[in-house]
Amino acid sequence: MQHAEPLFVGRTFDDFLFRPQHSPLLTRREVELAMPLVAGLELALPVVGANMDTVVGQEMAKTLALEGGLGFLHRNSPIGEQAERVRYVKTRHSYVIERPVLLERSATMAQARQTIRLHNASGILIEEVKGSGLLAGILSHRDMPIGGRGDDRLVSEFMTPRARLVTRPPSVTIEEAEQVMFDHRVEKLPLVDEKSRIRGLITMRDLKLYKQKPHSSKDGRGRLRVGGAIGATGDYLERAEAMLAEEVDCLLLDVAHADADVVERAIREFRRTFKDVPLVVGNVATASGARWLADLGADAVKVGVGPGRGCRTRLETGAGVPQLQAVREAWLGTEGKVPIIADGGIQNDKDIFLAIACGASTVMLGSMLAGTDEAPGLVVEDPATRQKVKLYRGMTSPEAVTEGADDGEEVAEALRTPAEGKSVRVPYVGSVVAILARVRGHLPPAVGGELRGRARPRERPPQDIPRPRALPHPAVRSRTARVVRAVESDHALGGGAATECKGQRPPTRLAMTP
Ligand code: XMP
Repeated sequence: MQHAEPLFVGRTFDDFLFRPQHSPLLTRREVELAMPLVAGLELALPVVGANMDTVVGQEMAKTLALEGGLGFLHRNSPIGEQAERVRYVKTRHSYVIERPVLLERSATMAQARQTIRLHNASGILIEEVKGSGLLAGILSHRDMPIGGRGDDRLVSEFMTPRARLVTRPPSVTIEEAEQVMFDHRVEKLPLVDEKSRIRGLITMRDLKLYKQKPHSSKDGRGRLRVGGAIGATGDYLERAEAMLAEEVDCLLLDVAHADADVVERAIREFRRTFKDVPLVVGNVATASGARWLADLGADAVKVGVGPGRGCRTRLETGAGVPQLQAVREAWLGTEGKVPIIADGGIQNDKDIFLAIACGASTVMLGSMLAGTDEAPGLVVEDPATRQKVKLYRGMTSPEAVTEGADDGEEVAEALRTPAEGKSVRVPYVGSVVAILARVRGHLPPAVGGELRGRARPRERPPQDIPRPRALPHPAVRSRTARVVRAVESDHALGGGAATECKGQRPPTRLAMTP
């Protein structure tokens, strides 16, 4: 098995710089950034959100998909809640809402207000009788009496009734829908069959978004894509089943140390039950571990043991491989056959590009996303510094473990196990959209220009740079053929002194390679 070239041993993000080179590109738009998360599921922005309860909830998953990435919903919640979050993402912003929120005409306005608030909807479809699915009308924000008045009156008194609604059959095209809504100056277009049964809803807002964001991660039916995490023991198959019932796009079998027999058993069980479901498996940090997972049927391998901001694994157990070395090993070990996800330790945009240059197809981000509006949790002000911060915690931190446990016995058991995760505060940084826009802006020059060339060692004189020409780079592509060739043949890097994960610097000479 091919381990990382000597150049990469003991190396991580801070050890490399891209050597500036002549660029053949005329514009950034020439660079195609799409990368596979797994075969057949490409992301226009190669960024996935970490399945952590202070990083990816439903809002983060939705926004990441809208911006061209993807979020993995954490599993630190009951199965039903996680599946409900999948449903939330899948029913946002597809240009057809296939299962719109319904309320019966005999409901009260108080119930209507509550339903609208719960689903964060601008209006709801009203059905004749609960469960009948027969369209009776629409209740929009503008139909609601101001100041909470009329709470005990019936929805049917305020809704726009069926007779005054413009509707279309479910086969309507996006262009027809847009035209009809413009002609009638309506914001919502219910889709009904010949028996007046509700078959979907198109809103002007979703249509606009659909057109404004051509790079969003969408499935074949125009719905946002979302992933969900499962474990390797206990109820993991039930969890998978519940999310698949809501049509989750990709599952992630996630354990701290995936190079283990328990994971082999879990993958085999999973494949027996869900043959073709895209499955990412992690984490590993060696060529042999990555190869083993790929051979067992993982559709992508997630790489990273201990580089994360909320990790204490390396300090507590001494286990780990410097992250760029691990990524490189995993890529070489799997011979580019399955995509690699570089997970953990990414603090700056350039770390993303380095991971990709070394063989990753996508990167998983935790702390870099945790301080945003879309991450779960509140913004608090640090009384000492007046700085606004959010909480970010490792999923094996005592706080996360106790919150996710089902009962007292599980809490006690979890607390008996020494924690390998910690909680930290990260600065509040506003919307994640700004961060993703910045990454998207920085990526084309890196891919189209600097990534083509060798990175320059920071402190050392140039060395013999290995060129793994035999292996195609997994995904970096450009519309410019010249750039494609350059990326594939010339992306090996130079290295300098090893530093990794502030405060967790692995001694270079002791860096563990198999
Ligand atoms: P960043 O650096 O992006 O890392 O914040 C995110 C990744 O950290 C991993 N993670 C943990 N690792 N103990 C660990 O050793 C933990 O409690 C823990 N929680 C998360 C995980 O791989 C995540 O994607």
